[in-house]
Amino acid sequence: MSEKLEASYKLPSKKCVSMKNYLGEITKKDTLLKSLTLEQLRVFEAAARHCSFTKAAQELFITQPTVSMQIKHLTQAVGTPLFDHVGKRVFLTQAGLEVLSTCREIFYSLEKLEGVICDLKGMKQGKLKIAGATTTKYFISKLLKPFCDLYPGVNISIEIANHKTLLSRLNDNLDDLYILSCLPEKADIEVTPFLDNPLVMVSSCHHHLANQDYIPLLSLAEESFILREQGSGTRNFVQQFFKQNGIPINIKLELGSNETIEQAVFDGLGISVLSLNSLHTTEIGSKLTVLNVEGFPLHQQWHIVFPKKKQLSITASTFMEYLMAEGMRYKKGEVALLEVASS
Ligand code: PGA
Repeated sequence: MSEKLEASYKLPSKKCVSMKNYLGEITKKDTLLKSLTLEQLRVFEAAARHCSFTKAAQELFITQPTVSMQIKHLTQAVGTPLFDHVGKRVFLTQAGLEVLSTCREIFYSLEKLEGVICDLKGMKQGKLKIAGATTTKYFISKLLKPFCDLYPGVNISIEIANHKTLLSRLNDNLDDLYILSCLPEKADIEVTPFLDNPLVMVSSCHHHLANQDYIPLLSLAEESFILREQGSGTRNFVQQFFKQNGIPINIKLELGSNETIEQAVFDGLGISVLSLNSLHTTEIGSKLTVLNVEGFPLHQQWHIVFPKKKQLSITASTFMEYLMAEGMRYKKGEVALLEVASS
């Protein structure tokens, strides 16, 4: 114990003072934290582990005098000998053992911190590959905006495709996450619903159904429908709904995009069923009439999907958590995805 420290701290008269208590006492006065360095601890840890200054110097690629110097400074900072020298051999003192244990806790915490920082850097520089069903293109950018603001270094690529194409991409594990409304019947997938996807029946405002307050499903048997291409999940869902209700559906026109369908409905070629999410983002879509049909809107949800055995990257799981939180905000009405279509 140096005279200086003995003078400033009244140590208990016990033979072995707990170094943690002792360090705590010193820390209160800021002296230990001010004078010790991580480099001293690193050198000390190596010397203590090897019980040899020479081996520590070899391991750390420094000279033995440097090891002695670092340990001398640490000893001065702690204020009590850390090693006993017996002949050519060195042994840790009680204080040395305490410093070693604290030293290992510090290094362990630093390693853990390093892992966390790496993950954070991953979020700063990550890549995210999303594939979404055709209708997601109307709202995906609105959904993405706060995430992109939060993680400007994450590069995102989005593949927009119909249901059939998405399932084949999912099968080939081409993307991190999939946003689907209709789910495949058999697939080894994790599914998390996060947002509503109401399907509404629409017509032009000049259509004879446009002014009807209530339209029974049965009365639609004679109507001309415009639906998406084969392979579209929306189309499958609508066809199934009509089949379950025993109503034939007369598909007059098959079109490969929602915008083309909106235009065709607007031009009076027939009626259609579209996601409410797709209306009102286009000029034509917002001019269509949403019909009050029995059983409508059809309730669907958007799901986050990925293969069951897939290990999600930190970027993908962060994005997924973000989507779920955003979904809750939309559900609570804190934000609106789109304005609700009005007739
Ligand atoms: P789709 O999308 O109609 O563009 O195929 C529906 C779905 O989510 O599967």
